Amino acid sequence: MKITPTHQTLGAVIDDIDLSQPLAKADFGVILHALGEHGVLCFPRQTLDAPGLRAFSAHFGGLQASLTGTYCERNMPEVMILSNIVENGEPIGLADAGQDWHTDMSYNDLIGFTNVLYGIKIPHRDGAPLGNTVFANMHAAYEALADDLKRSLAGMTATHDFNKFWEEMRTRAGSARPPLTPEQRAKRPPAMHPVFMEHPITGRPVLYCNPGYAIRINELDDAESSRVLEQLFRHQLQPQFQYAHRWTEGDVLMWDHIGTLHNAIPDYTADEHRLIKRCQVTADRVFDPAFVRDGLRHAAE
Ligand code: SIN
Repeated sequence: MKITPTHQTLGAVIDDIDLSQPLAKADFGVILHALGEHGVLCFPRQTLDAPGLRAFSAHFGGLQASLTGTYCERNMPEVMILSNIVENGEPIGLADAGQDWHTDMSYNDLIGFTNVLYGIKIPHRDGAPLGNTVFANMHAAYEALADDLKRSLAGMTATHDFNKFWEEMRTRAGSARPPLTPEQRAKRPPAMHPVFMEHPITGRPVLYCNPGYAIRINELDDAESSRVLEQLFRHQLQPQFQYAHRWTEGDVLMWDHIGTLHNAIPDYTADEHRLIKRCQVTADRVFDPAFVRDGLRHAAE
């Protein structure tokens, strides 16, 4: 494997590995380490079917299944389809997934660790790719926070609610999302997490709060919570923390949710087709020190 950092705030390209083949322990360890180090990894020129995407993703932890049971591969609710393509009058995928700043699965008690996306059809205009996925670096955002804010928020927690992002998407023109049913809401109740977390791979602190799902800082009164959340959201989205991935068909793009936020840019029209398959990997294993230690040890062998 060859790892080439982008030399921007996030990102590296990993060549000379075929992700459709069984993953050697040493390669797994190198990827795990690189994910902590660079936050966003692109594996170009891959050919992966849905079981292959699922198998590669499952090395990193348990996979979250589609909540609604729609927009996923047949008999594979862990492989979701993100697309604006309509066939026979029916959308084949979720057209507006992730189209604002957020961190996947911060709304669960068991948070997200990584997403693994496979780019099958990428829209282009005038020769340039559309539909970038943009990231923000939460190691850097934490480091750049004012010391008094680091001190005052240390030990505090935020509540994250799946319904916040869902409702925001629903209010957008042309949204096909129905409101969540009471049963669906019950399956995704709000969750609380520390505002600052030690990253399980880097061991460094990250700002774990995002505009998509964070609704409250629990230890503050309502007005103060709203004021501080707005301040954190403005801070974490400053341009110097951002990195944009420009898609090429065949890219497998993998990113660390604990140390980044992301935003899928909808700058293409209904006739400019985008098709991406996605697995969402939970953090059920990455907080186990033995999982990370063994991975990094194999990488060093
Ligand atoms: C996501 O939020 O997982 C979707 C990202 C994308 O489609 O670029």
